[in-house]
Amino acid sequence: MKILFIGDIVGSPGRNMLAEYLPRLKKSYKPDVTVVNGENAAHGKGLTEKIYKQLLEIGADVITMGNHTWDKREIFEYINDANSLVVPANFPPATPGKGYKVLNVNGQKVAVINLIGRTFMADQDCPFRKADEILKQLPEDTAQIFVDFHAETTSEKQALGWYLDGRVTAVCGTHTHVQTADERILPQGTGYISDVGMTGPYDGILGMSRDAVMKKFLTNLPVKFEVEEGREQINGVFIQAAPRQKAVQKMKRIAVNDEQPLMD
Ligand SMILES: [Fe+2]
Repeated sequence: MKILFIGDIVGSPGRNMLAEYLPRLKKSYKPDVTVVNGENAAHGKGLTEKIYKQLLEIGADVITMGNHTWDKREIFEYINDANSLVVPANFPPATPGKGYKVLNVNGQKVAVINLIGRTFMADQDCPFRKADEILKQLPEDTAQIFVDFHAETTSEKQALGWYLDGRVTAVCGTHTHVQTADERILPQGTGYISDVGMTGPYDGILGMSRDAVMKKFLTNLPVKFEVEEGREQINGVFIQAAPRQKAVQKMKRIAVNDEQPLMD
């Protein structure tokens, strides 16, 4: 089973990069499932229905979210019909949307779970206990379980990786927009990376306008953050797991930008 996961799509530069490179990456890696984090896809914050559909048309099978899930108010109108959208499962009870999805891929069940961290973020339910709860709910014959853990700190991400080692296929971090070089296979077979990085502007600060972010740091005055323009990048990770087992055989970081062109 091959899973391709693309890190946080930021605004139109991120969508452009996905449209340009996802078909090429699919040709090279031949994933069975493609998961894309879309919480920043609409102007850097949130996801409109039009863009949700656009990401699916480009080739995502499942779209995961994060702390910006509710930033575009129209999500409340379409979320109940958005079958391929997964939002953090440990949002408080009674928030709309589903926290995981089980896909049928070539006769195998593949679960995609989205969780959100609590350290230096809003106060959510416990992602560790929520993961336990979901693992109990999943069909027993679920062959692969992919977790997008949208969190700020590497410590909380590593802790969840070790906590779920051997129980899920992979724990891949998102949210910081900076790809970490710590991809590995944990002793019980779970693939792990602290953050897969971001797909969008290459010369911004976490994808947003450099000038605005620098002004914020220099003055502390209120500033409006816009998505940066110019050069673009795509970040992600490719995971190959043993058939019908939650054991990763190969984990490969993907980073394409002006300095690291895609060789296919
Ligand atoms: Fe985020």
